[in-house]
Amino acid sequence: MIIAIDGPAASGKGTLSKQLAAHYRLPHLDTGLLYRGVALAMTIARQPLEDAALAEAAARNLKLDDLSDPRLRSAEMGGAASIVAAIPAVRAALLDFQRAFANQPAGAVLDGRDIGTVVAPHADAKLFVTATAEERARRRVRELRGRGAHADEAQILADIQARDARDGARSVAPLKAAPDARLLDTTNLDIDAAFRAAVALIDGA
Ligand code: CDP
Ligand code: CDP
Repeated sequence: MIIAIDGPAASGKGTLSKQLAAHYRLPHLDTGLLYRGVALAMTIARQPLEDAALAEAAARNLKLDDLSDPRLRSAEMGGAASIVAAIPAVRAALLDFQRAFANQPAGAVLDGRDIGTVVAPHADAKLFVTATAEERARRRVRELRGRGAHADEAQILADIQARDARDGARSVAPLKAAPDARLLDTTNLDIDAAFRAAVALIDGA
């Protein structure tokens, strides 16, 4: 079984994908980490994120070991990832690995922006997870404050809206639901309720 989970930043797709992977006993790939990995490699090398040739090289040289770096999880790297993710050659360079992960015999859960549309259009179940930008900003604020970090809610909301716009407007693989994806709006759902709703959609499909 291949499960494709897409949606905007802080919609809860990562949390949900981990729960679904455990529930259905499937391997899980957070594809955002690949784009964050490219952005981090370029940042460390002090390369401009908009340079298509350098970004493609960073994508081709990306190693799985690079994906455990805690710096990948920062808000800055989320924004930087969305810049390199708009470069078609970067997306092409990361595609084979994602497709191979999706098509492994055991099945898989993948989450990102283009899983149901590009990476695994033949997935058995596709969910498009959403929540209002305000609710997603509140979640990020809670997450940061929970870790004792400073969080400016207005700034975080502006960052989320800028990332939504960049991911939605790019010419290759823009963030949009596949025509056959089921919509899961988690604005008023906590983590457990979202998980139950997702399982109902997947098992009912
Ligand atoms: O967790 P969050 O939604 O904040 O970010 P992420 O999933 O780690 O993705 C970071 C950025 O990578 C996104 O804003 C997208 O621009 C890009 N991305 C993408 O283009 N395609 C994917 N399949 C996954 C991420
Ligand atoms: O992967 P994505 O960026 O879409 O979101 P996430 O990292 O799974 O969730 C972002 C934050 O929202 C985390 O702190 C989750 O615990 C929280 N969350 C929530 O409060 N309610 C949900 N229904 C889903 C996630």
